[in-house]
Amino acid sequence: MTRLKQKTLFPFLFVLALGPLSSFAQYEADQGERFYQLKCGRCHVAYLPQKYTIEEWKTIVREMGQLAGLDKKGEEDLLGYLEREAARSEKRGLPTSPVLAGYLYTEYFSSKNSVDTFDMHYLNINLSGRLHERVSYRAEFELEHGGGKAEPPFVEQAYIDVRLVRNMAVRIGAMLTPFNRFDEFHGPLENFLVNRPQMAREIGVSAWKDVGIDIHGSLFFGNKFYVNYDVYAINGLGAGTRLRESRQYLDNNDAKSLGFRLSGVLADRWEAGFSYQRGAWNGAGDYDLTMTGVHFLGKVGELSLFAEYSRALSENPAPTGRGKASGYFVQASYIINRKFRPTIQYGTLDYLDNGALLGRKPTDFDTKALALGMNFYLTQMIVFKAEYDIIGEGARKTKIANDLFALQAAVRF
Ligand code: HEC
Repeated sequence: MTRLKQKTLFPFLFVLALGPLSSFAQYEADQGERFYQLKCGRCHVAYLPQKYTIEEWKTIVREMGQLAGLDKKGEEDLLGYLEREAARSEKRGLPTSPVLAGYLYTEYFSSKNSVDTFDMHYLNINLSGRLHERVSYRAEFELEHGGGKAEPPFVEQAYIDVRLVRNMAVRIGAMLTPFNRFDEFHGPLENFLVNRPQMAREIGVSAWKDVGIDIHGSLFFGNKFYVNYDVYAINGLGAGTRLRESRQYLDNNDAKSLGFRLSGVLADRWEAGFSYQRGAWNGAGDYDLTMTGVHFLGKVGELSLFAEYSRALSENPAPTGRGKASGYFVQASYIINRKFRPTIQYGTLDYLDNGALLGRKPTDFDTKALALGMNFYLTQMIVFKAEYDIIGEGARKTKIANDLFALQAAVRF
């Protein structure tokens, strides 16, 4: 390379290098605790550093660091902090020992229009680990309603993440579909209520795991803003009687569903995102399902805000018109003394699909629900919830006595 070329390249490389280096230059290394809370306490409580060994933390930070927008220095500082804190406990890990985690919860539901019941709703066991500098995995097993014949145990997630470059990885396998945020937040600590918003059950389709490939990562713009992205190809929803019943592991057609999710995160407090997905749902692969979503998350002191909107359009064979579904929820939650968390949520679901052909049953939901919840946290990982849902019907429906009272006891381990 000639000297001239080197000279012209140099400033260019310098500017390139400055970008990532300038990210998060604002925090200071000795503010470990505050930095940890800021970065890792946005979507769930920042778990106690003593919970895992430093080797386990390395695995976790590898995975969560991208969600939290950690650059190289941020990751090193955070691990330094966790290492100092984790060293206080006696635990010793193998260099690549898997992290064992999970949750379980039991609920009680009472409503006029259905049988009152206890429900051993979920037992989820989660293993994640690193096997190589660039390769990590997550395997999550779920037993719903106690398992058995009707609900055999199944794989909720099983994927391999291959890091291509810093802040960019390709995920291969069964994953929670990157559509809006609620699906990832359906666990008992991330979802502050007992129930899920109707719209997130029926359109976002929580929990929606699908098989495919997802390129994900983060892009930094200055030190206050970063963007998380996902671009993916999956089997997509199939020809079930409604969207929720259309989840599948193996595809029913040759066409893959393509989608993306973009979320901008400002000052580690505000997140706004857009999701889009399109793919054929029927066996012949000629009727498309298109889904769009918008989500918003915010944190102001002890107040957490969460809102989502989803919309789905389903092409149907003539003479049936297009199936349409849309809905939203808005939620505000406040934590008092790290012990009590009152939550209020309002949500709607308007879902009309007359696609009775090709196996689809006519679907008609028209609901508006107000949920009032109160949680008590004995510790970070143990929660008792009580909730009352006032469920109203839209213009297409007649009023029924379907208000719901729900209790939940949950632990994460
Ligand atoms: C964008 C939201 C988000 C951010 C930011 C985030 N997490 Fe998480 N985290 C999650 C979700 C969702 C789960 C539940 C995953 C599951 O159960 O599949 C989780 C689970 C965990 C767990 C439980 C163990 C496991 O693997 O399931 C640990 C520990 C954890 N996160 C640590 C961290 C740390 C450390 C950071 C900061 C570097 C962080 N998280 C930032 C969303 C987030």
